[in-house]
Amino acid sequence: MNKLIVSLLLTVGISGIAHAAGDAAAGQAKAAVCGACHGPDGNSMAPNFPKLAGQGERYLTKQLHDIKSGKRTVLEMTGLLTNLSDQDLADIAAYFASQKGSVGAADPKIVARGEALFRGGNLEKGLPACTGCHSPNGAGNAAAGFPHLGGQHAQYIAKQLTDFRKEEAGRNNDGDAMPMRTIARKLSDEDIAAVSSYIQGLH
Ligand code: HEC
Ligand code: HEC
Repeated sequence: MNKLIVSLLLTVGISGIAHAAGDAAAGQAKAAVCGACHGPDGNSMAPNFPKLAGQGERYLTKQLHDIKSGKRTVLEMTGLLTNLSDQDLADIAAYFASQKGSVGAADPKIVARGEALFRGGNLEKGLPACTGCHSPNGAGNAAAGFPHLGGQHAQYIAKQLTDFRKEEAGRNNDGDAMPMRTIARKLSDEDIAAVSSYIQGLH
């Protein structure tokens, strides 16, 4: 492991907030309104609506708090979380975390470049491998709050990486260690397209 990953891991791991544990069964009913965009089981059809199925509970809860507070901007969700309590958010997160995520396909023309970047990073640019935090199969690290990426829509992933790079739509929400802002600034548009396509087919 290189020094960048080690220092990022140390700081990211301790920066999380403690939240109440969620109840997946209670969350299913509370998540009914979310299904219109994210799919009833969290496997959305549209490539700009992220899949939530199989995403880590801690990561989901954190994003819901960030979106509710306006720290992260999701215009499509305006007002939807206003009347939900911390317990409601935890229950909804537990529900989607308990569902099985579906997987798409990578574009064969750019998959090799995406795979090399995801697995090996880029030593010259000081870019760590994504596997260090998001795991080799893209499952992430639920306990640490590192999101599951495998099978996610490429279009959604590419937008997040671009947002982290430009700090748009509130995606400066990766904590004081700034792992994703630091990484995204070193990615070219071609890197982002390739690694996002690879992630869409990863499982
Ligand atoms: C009208 C469509 C729509 C509805 C309804 C909706 N969302 Fe979203 N949601 C979005 C979009 C679009 C994004 C991604 C925005 C972006 O590109 O950053 C998003 C992002 C998210 C994220 C962040 C995912 C990630 O991987 O970081 C979570 C969590 C989420 N929504 C949960 C919910 C929940 C829970 C509900 C129901 C209470 C809900 N959404 C209802 C459109 C919707
Ligand atoms: C040092 C750990 C670390 C490394 C290495 C890392 N990430 Fe991340 N990544 C994170 C963390 C932590 C978050 C969640 C930030 C937050 O809480 O909003 C994240 C979030 C993301 C997201 C947003 C997911 C979503 O559902 O919105 C994407 C996309 C992403 N990373 C892609 C990558 C790619 C591609 C690489 C390799 C080029 C990479 N990451 C390397 C820690 C890391």
